[in-house]
Amino acid sequence: MSPTKTGGYAPLQIGLHWLIAALVLFQLVFGESMVEATEAAEEGEAISGADGVLATAHYWVGIAILVLVAMRLLARLRYGAPAPLDENPLVVMAGKAVHALFYLLLVLVPVSGLVAVHLNPEAGEIHQLAKPAFIILIVLHAGAAFYHHFVLRDRTLARMLVPAKAELPPAAR
Ligand code: HEM
Ligand code: HEM
Repeated sequence: MSPTKTGGYAPLQIGLHWLIAALVLFQLVFGESMVEATEAAEEGEAISGADGVLATAHYWVGIAILVLVAMRLLARLRYGAPAPLDENPLVVMAGKAVHALFYLLLVLVPVSGLVAVHLNPEAGEIHQLAKPAFIILIVLHAGAAFYHHFVLRDRTLARMLVPAKAELPPAAR
């Protein structure tokens, strides 16, 4: 039986959620080195060693995020997601919208980065919108998770930390 039917996320979904979140934070914190590297390349100037390393890391971490998100979407199709614990339909809709926007950004942002590097530098302008867009969504999303945990005291955050117990097959019961 899928973990969703037992009310939680699969271990793979939880692992990918936190790994991708950590990598996105890395991209947001150190992304400026990529802007420095791009500007220096356009003007034929040298960049510092740290910016060079961080810009290379930005490139490869971004591609890793794209691959991990593809795995995550496949896992989502395979396992689905547990039903929201909130009963207010407007809140449930807002949560689903934020999750869908996250998935959209997680694909569009690395793709626009690749386009900026390999096809058209002007895509860099659009790519840079990643920073405010992700920050707004993360504040809303983490705020909602903490509100569920500390105010409503339900299992919303707990089920993204601990996988649902796989249900025993009928023969083992
Ligand atoms: C989810 C993945 C990614 C996130 C969250 C992200 C985020 C960012 C951020 C925050 C900046 C700096 C913006 C600023 O300081 O205003 C940036 C710049 C940049 N990123 Fe990414 N990035 C990602 C993936 C990629 C990938 C895969 C590539 C290319 C292979 C890439 C290429 C670039 C380039 C070229 C710039 C400089 C743009 C310019 O100067 O016009 N990024 N990115
Ligand atoms: C860049 C950072 C993050 C991204 C991209 C992200 C993305 C997502 C997405 C797309 C989902 C929906 C999963 C699905 O049903 O398919 C989700 C669920 C969840 N996230 Fe995040 N997340 C991030 C950071 C965080 C943080 C910092 C927290 C906690 C403080 C958090 C807590 C949760 C929880 C509790 C759920 C499950 C919601 C539920 O079961 O209804 N996330 N996240």
